[in-house]
Amino acid sequence: MNTQFDKTLYRQHLHTQWLGHGLCYFEELKSTNTYLKKRPAEDIEQGMLCLTDHQTQGRGQYERKWESEQGKNLTFSLAFVPSSAERFHVLTLASALALVEHLNDLLDAPCACIKWPNDVLLNDKKMAGFLTETVFSGNTFDRLVIGIGINVNQEQFSEELADTATSIRLETGNEIDREIFLTDLLSRIEYKYNLWQRKKSGLLKSINRNIKGYGQWIGVKVNGQLRDKAYKLLGINEQGQLLVLNQDAGIETFSYEQIQLVTD
Ligand code: BTN
Repeated sequence: MNTQFDKTLYRQHLHTQWLGHGLCYFEELKSTNTYLKKRPAEDIEQGMLCLTDHQTQGRGQYERKWESEQGKNLTFSLAFVPSSAERFHVLTLASALALVEHLNDLLDAPCACIKWPNDVLLNDKKMAGFLTETVFSGNTFDRLVIGIGINVNQEQFSEELADTATSIRLETGNEIDREIFLTDLLSRIEYKYNLWQRKKSGLLKSINRNIKGYGQWIGVKVNGQLRDKAYKLLGINEQGQLLVLNQDAGIETFSYEQIQLVTD
């Protein structure tokens, strides 16, 4: 089934205080992130949602492309206007946590986790990616745009992705109502946003517990060079950077540009 996103159903099921109340829907759009980044500041409201059924130039981290079959998945972006861009990597991970918890509640066995810094895995295959971008007007911070691509009902992936990508449909055998899935997810993201804004320490702990490889000795690639089982993953710090223990019992901190995790 390849259907258009049902805006009426979406509105009927939306139970958030503010997230997703402003909806910009497009049958086709190059990139929902680019759209929300380019909107003039006066048109942006806290929690605005941009969603398309057919994203033609979806972007991912590290200059990657995000491919998504038309009408099957969720490709959307959320605009947030916190007072500063500080700790925005934690907000990305908090949103990923919202998705992980939602999936683990929906499915019989908990099989979703976060792959630091910006993926969600289902049964160890990638089913969602997050791309957060900051918008400044001159030197002044204006907004955060969190772009989320979720493979919902897609059943076939390109040869390149076939071994590493999956969807909820493929893992459960069930066709998912995208509108209901999204509205429930937005309630959870809104809740996490409030925790993030209030700097609740429990949030980092919940994120850490759901990161693949947490507490384990893992392989990493530092500046492209593989170091096998070189570090123990200790979780993230308040900035969303990765904390690891090295073989000499020293703690090292890495940003997502510096390190890639190689987990089993
Ligand atoms: C990644 O896996 O590297 C992140 C992928 C993020 C994809 C989403 S889809 C909606 C939004 N618009 C984009 O162009 N990208 C994000």
